[in-house]
Amino acid sequence: MLFNLCNCVAPSSLSDVGSLCSGGAGFVTAMMATLAANARTEPAKTLRGGVPQVDKLAVRMVTDNIVMQFVPTEKRDGLTIERRTGSNTSPDRAPRAALNGEWGLAMHAESVRGGETRHVLIDFGYTPEVLLNNMAILKVDPSAFDALVLSHGHYDHFGGMVGFLNATKSVLKRKIPFYVGGEDTFCIRKNPGGNFGALDRKAILDAELTLMMASEPAIVADHAFTTGRIGQTSFEKPLQPSMEIVGIVDGFGCFPEQMPPEKNTGAYIPDDFEHEIGTVYLVKGRGLVVLTSCSHRGVINTVRQAMQASGVDKVHAVLGGFHVVPPLGDDYINQTIAEFKAIGPDYLVTAHCTGDRFYDLARQALGDKVIHSAVGTRFVFEGA
Ligand SMILES: [Fe+2]
Repeated sequence: MLFNLCNCVAPSSLSDVGSLCSGGAGFVTAMMATLAANARTEPAKTLRGGVPQVDKLAVRMVTDNIVMQFVPTEKRDGLTIERRTGSNTSPDRAPRAALNGEWGLAMHAESVRGGETRHVLIDFGYTPEVLLNNMAILKVDPSAFDALVLSHGHYDHFGGMVGFLNATKSVLKRKIPFYVGGEDTFCIRKNPGGNFGALDRKAILDAELTLMMASEPAIVADHAFTTGRIGQTSFEKPLQPSMEIVGIVDGFGCFPEQMPPEKNTGAYIPDDFEHEIGTVYLVKGRGLVVLTSCSHRGVINTVRQAMQASGVDKVHAVLGGFHVVPPLGDDYINQTIAEFKAIGPDYLVTAHCTGDRFYDLARQALGDKVIHSAVGTRFVFEGA
């Protein structure tokens, strides 16, 4: 047990969590544990004094839902879509290794500014097996990573993290930052199917990463920024497929004293995703490229948050999971498309949790500026 917050008996399984001890006087153990974690946790460098700009950005889909073959590479204005035509397998290990799709998301962002290159891994997919398999085939080198970002506390985005850290911590650069949107990211979550999130803080600290709390917009690896808390500025409301609970059990969870009192109820409450963050690049002469991950706070809200945080109105591309899925129907989808028309991005790259119906209707409305993602595809944005 890493952090034992309270003097009560912890459930033996996270899936059994019904209520947690949620603070109060006399929990010296908890305070010591908090201090230990805090010693290796830093507030992120906030976005003051301007947004970094890059000359080029390449986003590789390392984990995504689907694998495709026989889709040709395409060159557009400012964007090359590098498809893995006929090269989804690993011929030296045939038929034992091929790119895998799964319900999850992980993206490798490689950016260039002048002579400087930065590598950031955003999210970790659902399983380490798929993440590590795909990284090997795609030749993504973990020793090159300058920062890691976790968008939010759902397993389809961090389930691969512990296995990834175990496999790579000996080659990762020491003390690279690991960004999360705040303490809420660590809260235990469940959905109707059971446990759907319990982020392993000990694994992050054991890998000698520097845990960065980024509830405000923050610079990432000198080249990018996170959105900070995503405001509710459009018609969208947070989609709430999961519940969260404040407290610590078996070393997992969020510290009650670092959470707002209204969430510290000792029982599961609807997840408001206040901890969710997007990752954003400003590509020279093109505009913002917004990497949305899962858009539980709303994809339009995420884009508008990126615009507001940066002071940049031109959006070049939105890439990631848009989460416009049932029970959201055509009216909601059409409203989302209308908002996108008003914002005017050059490209919408739909991945992971976007929803097939959204893709179909957006293609009808916006044509080929709507592009489907697939495992292994590399989206290369060139500055102008
Ligand atoms: Fe997701």
